[in-house]
Amino acid sequence: MISNDDCSTDGKSLHHNTGNKGSMRTVRVGSRSLPMYPLVIVCLGLLNTVLLLAAVVIGIYSGGVVNEEDPSHHITTEVLLTEVMQLRIMESEANKALEEVQKDMKIEMQTYQKLEQQIEPSKTLSDDLQRQIETLQVERAELQASSSDISDSCGRCPSGWFLLNTTCYFFSNSETIPLKTWPDSRADCIMRGADLVVIDSFEEQVNIYDFLPKLSRGQPWWRQGVWIGFTDIQTEGTWMWVNNVTQPDQGYWIHGEPNNDGTLGEDCAVTVKQDNPTKTWNDANCEELKKWLCEMAPNN
Ligand SMILES: *[C@@H]1O[C@H](CO)[C@@H](O)[C@H](O)[C@H]1NC(C)=O
Ligand SMILES: *[C@@H]1O[C@H](CO)[C@@H](O)[C@H](O)[C@H]1NC(C)=O
Repeated sequence: MISNDDCSTDGKSLHHNTGNKGSMRTVRVGSRSLPMYPLVIVCLGLLNTVLLLAAVVIGIYSGGVVNEEDPSHHITTEVLLTEVMQLRIMESEANKALEEVQKDMKIEMQTYQKLEQQIEPSKTLSDDLQRQIETLQVERAELQASSSDISDSCGRCPSGWFLLNTTCYFFSNSETIPLKTWPDSRADCIMRGADLVVIDSFEEQVNIYDFLPKLSRGQPWWRQGVWIGFTDIQTEGTWMWVNNVTQPDQGYWIHGEPNNDGTLGEDCAVTVKQDNPTKTWNDANCEELKKWLCEMAPNN
């Protein structure tokens, strides 16, 4: 710098000198006079050096700036690029996974539809089976009833009838069979190929007594009883069985019966399960509604 200052002083003086005396070939520096051209060359060389240094410094500085900026810029770009790459990889992986899930779902849906198709007929099948079971249960109940009939009657009486000793009986005890008057009861027995029961022996009297249900406590005994084939409707006081046979003895009337009670009279007989098996007959009005007992000979 000192040399530079010296040189610039020299320069001024040089300039001054050149301005005033262009043809002079020497320059005065202090007490010494130096040749002009080598000094100019040296100054220009120094200036060059200074400029070069400045350029180098600027270059280094700017280079430093560029170098400082570049790596960070570079790093950011690289990071961004790798991130973009990773994101692309992830996206493609996600797409692959989605495709696989969609495939799996398709398969699941197909399996589900197949299962549905399989379940649909098995549903109707189970409905059919349920109906078959119900039908079979009904048939079993019917078979059990008829088998008990058969074991009761050894197959000698029709279904729904029972065998006592040597005779088949039908008793209208079912809830589904309505009560009937004496004439309608007899008509029912005839329709079944039979007639109202004719009690023509002590054994039969006792067998029927044993078979019949006990008296209901809800009604007086004279309102109860089961129609039998015994009537005096043709001739009052002359009791006759439906087979046109008159009772040969006292029979099994309840004490005080028959009394032909009431204004309408009582011309038809019932058997009532009182305490004494030999005292069960009672006369009742033929139009009263009661259960009845049919009788017929067994098949063989
Ligand atoms: C069965 O009937 C026969 C003939 O009808 C009779 O002799 C016999 O006493 C009866 N037995 C019973 C237990 O009713
Ligand atoms: C009983 O008598 C009536 C009339 O007298 C007759 O119609 C009927 O066939 C007779 N019944 C029997 C079983 O003999």
